[in-house]
Amino acid sequence: MIDDLWYKNSVFYCLSVGTYMDANGDGIGDFKGLLRRLDYLQGLGITAIWLMPFQPSPGKDDGYDISDYYGVDPRYGTLGDFVEFTHGCRQRGIRVIIDLVVNHTSDTHPWFREARSSPDSEYRDWYVWADKKPANAGTGMVFPGVQKSTWSRDKEAKAWYFHRFYDFQPDLNTSNPRVQAEILKIMGFWIQLGVSGFRMDAVPFVIATKGAKVRTPVEQYDMLRAFREFLQWRQGNAIILAEANVLPETDMEYFGDDGDRMQMMFNFHVNQHLFYALASADSRSLAKALKATKPRPASAQWGLFLRNHDELDLGRLTKAQRDVVFRNFGPDKNMQLYGRGIRRRLAPMLGGDRRRLELAYSLMCTLPGTPVIRYGDEIGMGDNLALPERNCARTPMQWSTEPHAGFTESDKPCSAIIDKGPYGFEHVNVAKQRRDPGSMLNWTERIIRMRKEVPEIGWGDFRVIATRDPAVLIIRYDWRNNSALFVHNLDERPREVSFAAGLPGDTGKLLVNLLSEDHSQANERDQHRLVIEGYGYRWYRVGGLDYLLKRSDIDTKAGGNAAHPA
Ligand code: GLC
Ligand code: CA
Repeated sequence: MIDDLWYKNSVFYCLSVGTYMDANGDGIGDFKGLLRRLDYLQGLGITAIWLMPFQPSPGKDDGYDISDYYGVDPRYGTLGDFVEFTHGCRQRGIRVIIDLVVNHTSDTHPWFREARSSPDSEYRDWYVWADKKPANAGTGMVFPGVQKSTWSRDKEAKAWYFHRFYDFQPDLNTSNPRVQAEILKIMGFWIQLGVSGFRMDAVPFVIATKGAKVRTPVEQYDMLRAFREFLQWRQGNAIILAEANVLPETDMEYFGDDGDRMQMMFNFHVNQHLFYALASADSRSLAKALKATKPRPASAQWGLFLRNHDELDLGRLTKAQRDVVFRNFGPDKNMQLYGRGIRRRLAPMLGGDRRRLELAYSLMCTLPGTPVIRYGDEIGMGDNLALPERNCARTPMQWSTEPHAGFTESDKPCSAIIDKGPYGFEHVNVAKQRRDPGSMLNWTERIIRMRKEVPEIGWGDFRVIATRDPAVLIIRYDWRNNSALFVHNLDERPREVSFAAGLPGDTGKLLVNLLSEDHSQANERDQHRLVIEGYGYRWYRVGGLDYLLKRSDIDTKAGGNAAHPA
């Protein structure tokens, strides 16, 4: 069981092939280049790659506009190169999950071309049409400010088509059984080529009812079970990681009450409150968010992330909270996007402050779930705000001080490489950080190793331990007769805290620090007292280092939540 549910104690790394490494010198990253970097990724310690879309595409939404679900965009290589890549990953113990972008296709997809050609086309009903402009065409845009409408008129079809995203991304009619069957076929195809699952794009929209007459879309959650069943019949331990930015109340609809729907979801709720906590040095709303997203089936898992390839969406915070995050991390209009988020990379948001970066990473690694790292964040890469919308945080990986950061030999890289300022590739690159024992890269590698050695985080039950100081967050995990405890100081000033580990008997008296020699022994009243530096963090094993000897095969009363109802 513990080995089959590999995603429960794993470290994900998200990258796009086009900006990773260019082996054939045409300026665009490719699978051959990526293959040559697998040893780097293995060294970093990540256990799964989330590969962004690489299928043939006009590339108007960075590949999220697919024109052929069964191929590889020729700029990135061939299907043969793809299989070499998944094989190379398997040899190194790295799993691959790929994006499954089936809410919409590109408008250049042959299905859409067919569909628009005639009302009698067998593909007509694969998309969502209306004869007249629907009344609600001006609502529900995902990219407000850039996208004007959710319905556009197609001249050839002489009809209006629905698009939740950009107008070149017509929505598939996902209620059509033929479309559903095709989605399964797409999954089956890539599973056969060596992937371990999918990051499913825009899930709430995929399962929503769509059409001119739909006032309030209704989610058809049963579809999720159908996707999952098919996948697991084909390959038992394959997973779907859902991109669903939804309210905590609906989480269980996505996971399924019996854990029979999505294995993983990104925790957008915690993500926003985490940034608020970092900006305000107040952990209370984060603690609330952790509690609100706590209910989930034992086999389900959260994907915990800081930044991804999209904007940091702050839409679920109150206006006052959002303003605090904007003020601290993205004060200029140019850093903000779609009226709800920040488009910058992590390092510049945190002022390049190493202490704050470590704090943020330490939190990502120790909050309930599986961490998902964005490529380049392990070396503290920056952004290029001169690029439009979300492209600012999608610049090529910075490998070395060689021309174009060692990303390509071409003089025309697909996207400009950051070459100016403190985040320019001459300062921030892998080669330099490899040699420096104190670098961000080596720190990240160490923290990943440590994270993998604490499966309590991924598997265990957790509770937030109350302190009087809102700047300090303490979480304890219990799993199979063992506990681990984490302390974070969100404030720039040092803090003194006292707390009890909250376990019966003597177990909680000794806290062994996993990252330094500075352990903690409780006083006679079972209180631990510690002084923690500004932005400091502590990773402790409760009770000592003989935990592997103590670990039980099942959760017993002593350590598990049975003895400590939340
Ligand atoms: C998801 C992706 C985003 C893309 C959109 C449309 O939100 O993360 O990058 O633009 O779907 O496919
Ligand atoms: Ca290339």
